[in-house]
Amino acid sequence: MTGLLRERVALVVGGASGLGEAIAHRFAAEGATVAVADANGPGAQTVADAIVAHGHNAVAVEADVTVTADVERMVAVAAGLGPLRVLVLSAAVESSVPLVDLSDDEWQHVLDVDLTGPFRVMRAGIPHLIAHGGGSVIALGSTLGLTVAPGYPAYCAAKGALVNLCKQAAIDYAPQGVRVNVLAPSATDTGLFMEHSARAPDPEAVRAMVARANPMRRLGTADEVGDAAVFLASDMSTYVSGTVIALDGGLAARRL
Ligand SMILES: NC(=O)c1ccc[n+]([C@@H]2O[C@H](COP(=O)([O-])OP(=O)(O)OC[C@H]3O[C@@H](n4cnc5c(N)ncnc54)[C@H](O)[C@@H]3O)[C@@H](O)[C@H]2O)c1
Repeated sequence: MTGLLRERVALVVGGASGLGEAIAHRFAAEGATVAVADANGPGAQTVADAIVAHGHNAVAVEADVTVTADVERMVAVAAGLGPLRVLVLSAAVESSVPLVDLSDDEWQHVLDVDLTGPFRVMRAGIPHLIAHGGGSVIALGSTLGLTVAPGYPAYCAAKGALVNLCKQAAIDYAPQGVRVNVLAPSATDTGLFMEHSARAPDPEAVRAMVARANPMRRLGTADEVGDAAVFLASDMSTYVSGTVIALDGGLAARRL
């Protein structure tokens, strides 16, 4: 690793598992001090402990992005570690209930975690980035925020709106040096997709089918998402803002 993120603190929200966990490890290996935040406090602690065991710097924060006081506390903890320059918005829940069967409660919960959560974290965190001369916000969107799939109305709506929320933040805070971008992975070999497919009668068949449907004939990897996150968090991307980087093997570009 090359120390691309030395002397900056990164808050990774949703860092207890999946892509957030992978990003937390990558950032720490690049020299960042990482605040690993998650509603799953023990999970966040396990990730932070593993990072420290590798000789890097991390602390865990238990916080629920649906609770404003929790979000403000986790941002304060991260800001207390040094110059907070990076926010990763990875916490999310998935929902695959058809629109006509979707309850108010489930709709509201998905929107609260996947869309209002990122809003709350940016609202609390961006002033700290500005105070340190700017920084980078990296939201985890999805292919399903760019083009939809049958049966995911709440998740697709939340991820689609997240793109415009990030564009809004990008233009509003660009003068203060804050960059805001979305990473939009398709199915990867970790996290939500693996959990979702694990509930199928034949998980491996589902994974193979999804991989075959991708132009590259495979799933994405957590490492590939980590590479893109390091690029966006670092000074290698200082003119990149308000954009969506699809990490999908070309999937969203294809009509059929
Ligand atoms: N894994 C994939 O294939 C894939 C594909 C496209 C997009 N994404 C997106 O990437 C991001 C990470 O997904 P993942 O696959 O790593 O999922 P994951 O379930 O492994 O990680 C999500 C984390 O968010 C946390 N979380 C959930 N609700 C929370 C809340 N209210 N407050 C705080 N933390 C909460 C969970 O505890 C979990 O640790 C998500 O935004 C997801 O939509 C993932």
